Amino acid sequence: MLVKRALRAAADGHPITVSGTAPDLLVHLRTWCRAEGHEFQSPELDPTCAVIVRGPASSQRWSGAERAGGADALNPAAIVDRPPQRWGLAARGALVESGSPEFHFPLAEKAQVWSADAIRLYAQATAAQWDPATAIPWDVEFDLPDEVEDAVVQIMTYLVENETAALIVPSRFIAQLHPHFREVMQVLAVQAADEARHMEVFTRRALLKGRRPGLSTAGGQASLQTLVEEPDFAVASFLLSVLGEGTFLSLLWFLERFAPDPVTSAVCRLAAQDEARHVAFGMAHLREHIQSDASVLGLLANAVRRRHDALRHTAGLNAEVFDALVLFAAGSWSPADIATGYDHVARLVEEMHTGRRKRLLRLGFSEGDAEELSSLHTRNFM
Ligand SMILES: [Fe+2]
Ligand SMILES: [Fe+2]
Repeated sequence: MLVKRALRAAADGHPITVSGTAPDLLVHLRTWCRAEGHEFQSPELDPTCAVIVRGPASSQRWSGAERAGGADALNPAAIVDRPPQRWGLAARGALVESGSPEFHFPLAEKAQVWSADAIRLYAQATAAQWDPATAIPWDVEFDLPDEVEDAVVQIMTYLVENETAALIVPSRFIAQLHPHFREVMQVLAVQAADEARHMEVFTRRALLKGRRPGLSTAGGQASLQTLVEEPDFAVASFLLSVLGEGTFLSLLWFLERFAPDPVTSAVCRLAAQDEARHVAFGMAHLREHIQSDASVLGLLANAVRRRHDALRHTAGLNAEVFDALVLFAAGSWSPADIATGYDHVARLVEEMHTGRRKRLLRLGFSEGDAEELSSLHTRNFM
């Protein structure tokens, strides 16, 4: 290290003198110089020291190296439009040696994936992580009528299934993303961690009173399968984050509001707060993508129509979940309560539609398209 440092500091062609007490010093130095391409001279007068002149190889090694963009994402020039695959895993802003291997990250275009909002959303997400063990009053005592508890268990079972899809989709794309877009990768990773917590707390609430999980339907799974298997990042983010998680925001706030017990209310509130960030990031990067290429709107619209066609023979939201939502909001089987519960659910469905239309307009869809696409959204909600 000392010799290398001295050689780096020496001017071109200027010799440095090395001396030391190790008996084999000159033997080792000579070998090292040959390997590194430096010129080695041992002065005849003094056998304890050597003279070395820096060879060209050490500086040539880094001559073809290049900077992998800039470290600071707030500087607009730091993020390049098409980072080369040879930058690979290098920290953004690092000096990458030439001859580094080519990686194969399919999501390698800034316009496809980047939003400067990722920086802020990641910071918010890490600050807002909560601990399922302490954030939820698991030990509070309550007892619901049997059928209301069954309704809660059915809704939780449905939520777990949907959260699983919501974990898989961003996780798949993390592995496809060029690491140059580090902040986007981090946002998606925290999003996956959020969904892992949602799966945990909804499962725990379902099992809290010793019941088994409820029903999982073919129609619900068919709808989620179209999400899990969607290969295109823009389409998957649109279907999952803008339409699906956007719709789930209304659902989770509804569940929080009508929850018959404090545990259900807490798990839904905490999940809803996380979901708001997932929706925000989906909106942010899709808006930037659409601004750089307006034809993306047509691609997204067609994806909704295609998904609707593929699912048109399935039942959509299963009757068990719908009925459970009505009973959940009703609180009892009295006909008057059921009528009120039904009205609340009908208003929820209307609110979901309104929310979707608003987000579609914000992305740049026309009034007509927003209305059509929102009504074609899967009846499974996610
Ligand atoms: Fe979630
Ligand atoms: Fe989510």
